[in-house]
Amino acid sequence: MQTKVVKIDCEKIDKNGIREAAEIIRGGGLVAFPTETVYGLGADALSPEAAKKIYEAKGRPSDNPLIVHICDFTELVSIAREVPPEAEILAKAFWPGPLTMIVRKNDKVPCTTTGGLDTVAVRMPNHRIALALIRESGCMIAAPSANTSGKPSPTEAAHVALDMDGKIPMILDGGVVGIGIESTIVDLTEDVPMILRPGYITKEMLEQALGKEVRVDPGIIADSSDKKPKAPGMKYKHYAPKADLVLVEGEEAAVVAKINMLVTEKQKAGKKVGVIATDETKERYHADYVVSIGARTDEDAIARHLYRILRGFDDWEVDAIYSESFATPRIGQAIMNRLMKAAGHQVLTVE
Ligand code: TXA
Ligand code: MG
Repeated sequence: MQTKVVKIDCEKIDKNGIREAAEIIRGGGLVAFPTETVYGLGADALSPEAAKKIYEAKGRPSDNPLIVHICDFTELVSIAREVPPEAEILAKAFWPGPLTMIVRKNDKVPCTTTGGLDTVAVRMPNHRIALALIRESGCMIAAPSANTSGKPSPTEAAHVALDMDGKIPMILDGGVVGIGIESTIVDLTEDVPMILRPGYITKEMLEQALGKEVRVDPGIIADSSDKKPKAPGMKYKHYAPKADLVLVEGEEAAVVAKINMLVTEKQKAGKKVGVIATDETKERYHADYVVSIGARTDEDAIARHLYRILRGFDDWEVDAIYSESFATPRIGQAIMNRLMKAAGHQVLTVE
């Protein structure tokens, strides 16, 4: 299959491109498209055959449910068995935006879309191309991140092409995404809302909007890899670069010294080594490849650059990667959750 890449300017959306993509979706095919978080791999959410194609293209286990993308709140109402009052409040506060809500599903949603669960994940993305595609297709669009299963999520169309070329008919190229890590997932099916995946929308933001407590699934907190996470997708080794990745945390000078020591050891053994540094520290490392993820205080930049950097190390074929740790105040939990998974929970703490 030949994959057509169509560039679309977010400021001046080319209706023909969207129409062509919408037709593919209506016909049961796959289209990769940008959202504000990461690129998605979309198909008609209510068609079991279309959802199956997604699992095939990604090489993803079929017990891992998909997120249904909508462009209007009434669509959530149409596929939910009941709409919890929290869903309306959170939709008003954060949609369109990087928040996915889990509600009980009705019979309209096929089990292939939900990985056999009786709940469904729903999100209204804050991206003009994504919303135009959903609207034009007249479908709700099931879309996981548009990467091969186990690779970092794509934050630009070129990443999608690397993973999906020849496997899907079309990629809509809307440039580099704004946020760079996947949406926050909140489960609204129990009495206390629970975050199943941390993201740009934090626990504090949800609590403020709802005026009540929100919990975080203990299975996703960075250092408790032994607990089973509630979102099926969170249990898989994810976002993994080809090289072994180790995080080093602690006071800045000690971290730099420790990483440089580890780099020297590896280089002596004939290995190629990469380091994920910050603008503040990048000049102080002597690895084969040193990449700055951004300024330490700019957590939005850190989130936005993370997956591109992990993919870059794959291209350079390094053998080992050492990274500083980024437990920043607001989205640090989301950033560290992704990094910890990429590192398979290998963390060194230095004094
Ligand atoms: O930002 C995002 O959410 C991106 C963009 C494309 O919208 N999508 C995304 O999808 O990250 P995906 O498939 O890569 O991750 C979806 C996660 C998985 O961990 C999955 O297990 C969980 O959502 N999930 C989906 N439906 C669920 C459900 N009914 N109950 C629990 N977890 C669910
Ligand atoms: Mg994913």
